[in-house]
Amino acid sequence: MKKDLLSIGDLNSAEIDSILKLSQQLKKNKNKFAKSLSGKTLALIFQKPSNRTRVSFEVGMYQLGGNSLYLSPQEINLGVRETIGDVSRTISRYVDGIVLRTFEHKNCLDMATSASVPVINGLSDYSHPCQALADLFTIKEKLKTLKKVTLAYVGDGNNVCNSLLFAAAKTGMDISVATPKGYAPTDEVVKSSQAAAKVSGGRITISEDPFSAVKDAQVVYTDVWASMGQEEEINKRKVIFKDFQINTKLLSNATENVLVMHCLPAHRGEEITDEVMESKNSIVFDQAENRMHVQKAILIKLLGKNQRFL
Ligand code: CP
Ligand code: NVA
Repeated sequence: MKKDLLSIGDLNSAEIDSILKLSQQLKKNKNKFAKSLSGKTLALIFQKPSNRTRVSFEVGMYQLGGNSLYLSPQEINLGVRETIGDVSRTISRYVDGIVLRTFEHKNCLDMATSASVPVINGLSDYSHPCQALADLFTIKEKLKTLKKVTLAYVGDGNNVCNSLLFAAAKTGMDISVATPKGYAPTDEVVKSSQAAAKVSGGRITISEDPFSAVKDAQVVYTDVWASMGQEEEINKRKVIFKDFQINTKLLSNATENVLVMHCLPAHRGEEITDEVMESKNSIVFDQAENRMHVQKAILIKLLGKNQRFL
């Protein structure tokens, strides 16, 4: 049976571990996997712009011996030109996998239901699982472990924050999220990640205080204050989020060698300063690179022979 990746919540910790292990092998020895997906084609249906997700999936697919096909918003016009069900049933007849970047998460669920090939969420308003898996890989690469690592997320309680919460909870990290009032992740996300943290031995703290969130953190993470689709709110949000900027003063409360992460694109001078982006603590471009290694692992697992994560 085909398997999809729509949310980190779909994966158990053994599956996450298995993806991270394969990612490491792929990063170490690219040539060994050069024919893993030969003859396979991946469709990328994108309703929003992208640099990292599109390029890393396309290059990744090429490096595995397969092909990719980018379908822009104008071409597919999802749900307008024809229904999501009709799009996915048609595309499933041509390709071996679909990456969908969309607004409503329900579009991912609908596409996965109708598609006969694996569907990977390349970002929805609810989650960004490929990003979170690459983030886990990057943290493990730098700190050698995930268990009990102290991670602070400061900023908007958005898709990236949701996925990071699930990812941290499933791998036994201690995550502290600080958002302005009214911008916290939903109760549903907090409750289900808390349930996962109970099993893994991790800890979840949600607050509105960036200084206490970053206190003694080994990793500090942020994302844009206005996500794609919320651009018109940016002026209002700049006022509301002004105390949630990752700057040198805030980081002085974290551990000395704190790692600074950002999924990118960054809005320098808003959620993060130039100084921090360019500091020795910043690992944002390693993080961006790792998107490709991790997504290659996801592709091998979902489009390869066994079509399963373990
Ligand atoms: N981090 C990320 O998903 O980047 P893009 O929006 O450029 O794909
Ligand atoms: N939260 C951001 C992430 C971009 C990769 C957005 O959805 O625009």
